[in-house]
Amino acid sequence: MHLELRVPYASEVSLGEILVGETEGTGHEFLLRVTDLLHGAETAMPDWAQRVAGSMMRLDRDNAKYDLHDREERLYQQAVTTPLGFIDRTTGSPRLRKPKTLPPQFSRIRRLTDADLEFLAAYDQDLRVGLIRSGSHVINHAVGIHGRYLPHHIGVFATTGMGKSNLMKSFAASVMQSRRYGMLILDPHGEYYDGGAGVLPDGRKLQGLSHLPESTDRLLVYSSRQLPGPYNQLKISAAEVTISDLKAVYSFSQAQEECLWALNALFGETWLLDLATSTPEELSVHFGSKFHEMTLAVLKRRAEQVLRFDVLHADPNVTVTGGIMRALEDAKVVLVDTSSLWEPEEMLVSAVLARTVFRRNKEKYKRPQEFQATPPVLIAVEEAQRVLQRREGEVSIFAQIAREGRKFKTGICAVTQQPKLIPEELLSQFNTFFILGLADERDREILAGSAKQDISALVREVQTLEPGEAIIASPNVPFAVPARVDLYEDLLARQVASNGVKAAAAPKAFY
Ligand SMILES: Nc1ncnc2c1ncn2[C@@H]1O[C@H](COP(=O)(O)OP(=O)(O)OP(=O)(O)O)[C@@H](O)[C@H]1O
Ligand SMILES: [Mg+2]
Repeated sequence: MHLELRVPYASEVSLGEILVGETEGTGHEFLLRVTDLLHGAETAMPDWAQRVAGSMMRLDRDNAKYDLHDREERLYQQAVTTPLGFIDRTTGSPRLRKPKTLPPQFSRIRRLTDADLEFLAAYDQDLRVGLIRSGSHVINHAVGIHGRYLPHHIGVFATTGMGKSNLMKSFAASVMQSRRYGMLILDPHGEYYDGGAGVLPDGRKLQGLSHLPESTDRLLVYSSRQLPGPYNQLKISAAEVTISDLKAVYSFSQAQEECLWALNALFGETWLLDLATSTPEELSVHFGSKFHEMTLAVLKRRAEQVLRFDVLHADPNVTVTGGIMRALEDAKVVLVDTSSLWEPEEMLVSAVLARTVFRRNKEKYKRPQEFQATPPVLIAVEEAQRVLQRREGEVSIFAQIAREGRKFKTGICAVTQQPKLIPEELLSQFNTFFILGLADERDREILAGSAKQDISALVREVQTLEPGEAIIASPNVPFAVPARVDLYEDLLARQVASNGVKAAAAPKAFY
């Protein structure tokens, strides 16, 4: 369904703007989203505009002035719009209903205001992301998602510099303030703790999660590098590393993998240490001629290499996973700064932590009371294409969580510049999309095909989004909602100015 509007000569309407149509008599208003803009002119001649342009050029050449008669009456803009729904005020509190009928012709159209958005109260949202936006106008009405959908996974998609990290910081602040959900943030760039070295266009230094007043009791930081404030040294024990974790980092042939499983069966939890500390000859005693000594030698070298990772400890008691799990169970945000690690090390730590969270929640599922009292957990990964990309013969823990996490209160928040690298079958598991500016057409099309709300009409708008401008598609918003994401540094300034926000009371129920 498309509706075409005539916009008066001097008025400006922008792509993505939401307009309100008033229908006299019925008391209903309908919302329209601008999906295209064209020029219009009142004339019977189809090529009138070209002819006028031609006359102008000729007169210009002769330095004469051309005045278009009745310009303001004859020229206008034409806005092509898609109806989003109509506001039904007959049932007490206003509701947005699906657009099944055509609004009457020649209705009066006006701009959207805060008062029109009263119907959004029917959509329960407890994690704020920003304000509603209509084109480039910001409307003073908060918008976000509901945390009960965290285990239904979130995708944050944008070309570099369009505002993914800022969105993540603002969102993590909402999670801390809600006190209802656990969030594990894996930070390979070291930008979430204190904002890193970057500055805003106005010269202000970027801020981090440690600057938030709530961080004192809602944030727990683990880091492999030295940080100025309170933090814990990131360590995991070698006994926690499973074969599937290693596969997140290295490729193994079938024979090598079989050998790993045999070692695992033989030594149990300490397999990695035992592998690294035994000679191939000692190992082959256990297996006879089942595995080549060469295979054992190669695997031994791998194990030695992994054990040289700074974060890995031979002592099974030296690990942070227990502390991380407890913090997530207490609905805290856990920041794991892996920025000083090299990629294989960082990927291994990420896999171990994600798997531990998932397994823990899966275990709890067997004990309904305990499971019910467990807050949903969101695991946020930057450069998510690295862990969700299809790789030969390998199922990453992140892909597994994307497929099965919903049932076990474990969600993935995939942050990426290249959604097209994520298999569509996995993308379709993501129920919430935060789409910021995306320059690549293929990326936009992939998202349009996988979003739970119809965003096909927005593909062009997504190309024109400025940093911080987003479109939110989530189960608990009435349509793909345009938003202006809170700038984290502004959010902090507001909080500090008002001497901290009122902390929400700890909720009794979790979703
Ligand atoms: N909501 C916003 N409001 C105003 N400015 C914003 C907003 N979001 C982002 N910006 C601007 O854009 C810059 C880049 O944002 P950000 O670092 O979040 O992008 P990114 O998508 O994470 O980039 P990268 O892919 O390089 O990590 C910010 O430093 C800020 O200047
Ligand atoms: Mg970023």
